[in-house]
Amino acid sequence: MKKESERMTEYVHGYSDREALRLAEQADTLEELLHYDTIYPPGAKVLEAGCGIGAQTVILAKKNPRVEITSIDVSLDSLEKARENVKKNSIENVRFLQADIFSLPFEEESFDHVFVCFVLEHLQNPSEALTRLKKVLKPGGTITVIEGDHGSCYFYPEGEEALAAWSCLIRVQACMKGNSLIGRQLYPLLRESRFSEVKVEPRMVYVDSSKPELVDGFILKTIIPMVEGVKEQALEMQMVGEETWSKGIEELHETARPAGTFCYTFFKGRGTK
Ligand SMILES: C[S@@+](CC[C@H](N)C(=O)[O-])C[C@H]1O[C@@H](n2cnc3c(N)ncnc32)[C@H](O)[C@@H]1O
Repeated sequence: MKKESERMTEYVHGYSDREALRLAEQADTLEELLHYDTIYPPGAKVLEAGCGIGAQTVILAKKNPRVEITSIDVSLDSLEKARENVKKNSIENVRFLQADIFSLPFEEESFDHVFVCFVLEHLQNPSEALTRLKKVLKPGGTITVIEGDHGSCYFYPEGEEALAAWSCLIRVQACMKGNSLIGRQLYPLLRESRFSEVKVEPRMVYVDSSKPELVDGFILKTIIPMVEGVKEQALEMQMVGEETWSKGIEELHETARPAGTFCYTFFKGRGTK
């Protein structure tokens, strides 16, 4: 049987340059919404699990210049990009390591805080991942988890084909054993892993043409490329035909025009060991 990390080589969004760019755009666009309160006390040891290309790492490190961050990922290519990213931003409080959440190479109780963003949604067993991460947390330490929920999305105009393309995104991820509807499940997941003082907050992004930076950064550079990223799998699995797909993408672009709107909710959860 394949290990969890091995299954992740078939990670729904893949590791292309285009996806790297999308992760960077997503992190920059959502920085204030998701991270205005991602603050750790000076001197704390923080583990970032599933850092990808370091898009969140840079934000974490800049907001917390006096903490020691250890960022891990299973993908060597992503870690390479993350190292470049951090270097480009003259950040010096981060070390990177190739490691799997399911077999962490750290002593138990070695971190003050754990941070996980957009990772649980891709795992077949997110509950087990939280339990593993809890082991390396010191008693009294906290875990912060940020996830989206594709079921929280609505937009105008609501084209039929756009809805079909959006549904493909959810179904392709489910076929790959992920769960893009995980945001709503953060509270029970954190409780199941026996974290205490669990608190989950919805963080909603609402976009209309009065916010051109969100139209560009969120609809055009985060959301649409994310949907486009599953085109091959959706067609291969015969979820929709080529024509419906193209029309769906066209309709999604209409939400970025002056009369369009787009709404999506992220969830940020915190628990204490
Ligand atoms: C969607 S990306 C998110 C990256 C980053 N956290 C961000 O928000 O930009 C998910 C990342 O989790 C990593 N990942 C998935 N399973 C993992 C595991 N078992 N251990 C460590 N990293 C993992 C993937 O390689 C990928 O880089």
